[in-house]
Amino acid sequence: MISLGLNYSEMHDSSACIARDGEVLFAIAEERLSRQKHDARFPELAIRACLDFAGVQPQKLDHVCFGWPPATAALKHDLKCMAIGSVPRDYGDLVSTLRRNLSFTRQQNGERPFRARFPTTKANFRFIDHHLAHAISAYAFAGLDNAAVLVLDGRGAWEATSLWHGRDGRLEHIWTVPWPNSLGLFYAQFTQYLGFQPYSDEWKVMGLAPYGEAGINLRDFIIPADNPYKVSALRLLGHDSSPIAGIVSRLGPARIPESQIDTRHKNLAFAVQQSCEDAMLALARAAVEKTGCRNLCLAGGVALNSKANGKIAASGLVDHVFVQPAASDDGVCLGAVLAPYMDDGGKLPSHKMRHAYLGSSSSDEEIEKVIQTYKLRATRVADPAAAAAQMLASGKILGWFQGRMEFGPRALGARSILADPRDPEMNAKVNNAVKFREWWRPFAPSMLAEVADQYIESATDSPFMILTAQVRPEKRTVIPSVTHVDGSARPQTVERDVNPLYWRLIREFGDRTGVPVVMNTSFNLRGEPIVCTPTDGIRTFFSSGMDALVIGTFVVEK
Ligand SMILES: [Fe+2]
Repeated sequence: MISLGLNYSEMHDSSACIARDGEVLFAIAEERLSRQKHDARFPELAIRACLDFAGVQPQKLDHVCFGWPPATAALKHDLKCMAIGSVPRDYGDLVSTLRRNLSFTRQQNGERPFRARFPTTKANFRFIDHHLAHAISAYAFAGLDNAAVLVLDGRGAWEATSLWHGRDGRLEHIWTVPWPNSLGLFYAQFTQYLGFQPYSDEWKVMGLAPYGEAGINLRDFIIPADNPYKVSALRLLGHDSSPIAGIVSRLGPARIPESQIDTRHKNLAFAVQQSCEDAMLALARAAVEKTGCRNLCLAGGVALNSKANGKIAASGLVDHVFVQPAASDDGVCLGAVLAPYMDDGGKLPSHKMRHAYLGSSSSDEEIEKVIQTYKLRATRVADPAAAAAQMLASGKILGWFQGRMEFGPRALGARSILADPRDPEMNAKVNNAVKFREWWRPFAPSMLAEVADQYIESATDSPFMILTAQVRPEKRTVIPSVTHVDGSARPQTVERDVNPLYWRLIREFGDRTGVPVVMNTSFNLRGEPIVCTPTDGIRTFFSSGMDALVIGTFVVEK
């Protein structure tokens, strides 16, 4: 069976993946190809990349599976919410809801644009409930036979949070908290209030939180542990032309984007993050109690909150935590594509996801052609890992472009910017010269899995940088540029057999410095998607303060 999985909602993060006989072969977000961050358009480029990689003609597809039900489901729920008064009755919102529904109905929920672009297809079109798609994307990739599965996001068609019990390849639905009682909505509204982009920049609030202190009471907006939690959408939402008016009327003017961050902003970020952590811990506790299972899988955009995930992992509530690395909506294609296996009470295939290198790659020949086209100075090296380690040890900031691109928001040693984590100034150097991003956002370490225990308290397998943990006190001055102000870090533990080249780079760096840890951040400029092709990598390299680019077996310098 050959299936395509798609995320297409016209909201954000369109994506596609292709699976053969239950194994995902390739997955990519549309943004990486279109170069438009969070691209919400029909994922034509991503679909073509999937078909090309697998060598499959559209007529050979058995299923095309969207990670959303027909749009009328959301319309019905939204009208009901307006009718019962759980959201503000706003004419602008009503028009937006109707417009979106009309757009999707015209598109037959995505089937029509697919058929228009791939007219030879004979596939069966499927529309999977959004939270079910998220739940499969966690459970079927966790390598756990028995697991509680929590989905937490902004919203599905009607869902905000849902609990499932995965057993023996089957997912049983336990309960759903309907939208607008939504943790994702709560976090997104305050992200916007703090002057950032909602459903995109929640990282910035999470990174700012440790600079603040407790003191701001948000109980008007959220009660974090109220069986399971309660979010007041009526107080959070405004209206179409002023979406955060509810918060402004209670807390005063919002921060103007790009303006100074003051103590109040820091303290508010602290309170928002604390509320989210409390709610997620309460949900984890409820999930374990309800299922009687101490394995927990997480998916949905809220599960990108690595700080809260780390607290759950360290809480003693659970034995194992698996967070789908593409937890946001890009990842629903991974769940949707496997949904046909659940037909007639069937079992989901189960593969433990050990890496996220599901995207495109470029051969040395292709890279060389690009280098020649742009008439660049490049040298070929016998061992890119050793060459990169040598440059890192001498303080250089590198672009590292190797192998298949990562799927999901994190760079994990395929499309990364790397630097020396021992230099206390490196955070500022990379921020100012390369990433041009906010001063408070921490960088993360990649470390050999073998040494994680030496650097991280209660170290656990963490291949996806999605669990925050505390750096051991004696190591905080050893790797200062990847240790956050509260002593935490968001490590990637790198295993030799999963990514041998990246593992060797880190080991070579360790051989030279005594510290087998590198600073790893995504290979992109502020506001742009992570680079995908050699041309993207070279363009980004020359638009920034990076010292060298190690791309395939080539080293490009300025
Ligand atoms: Fe979602």
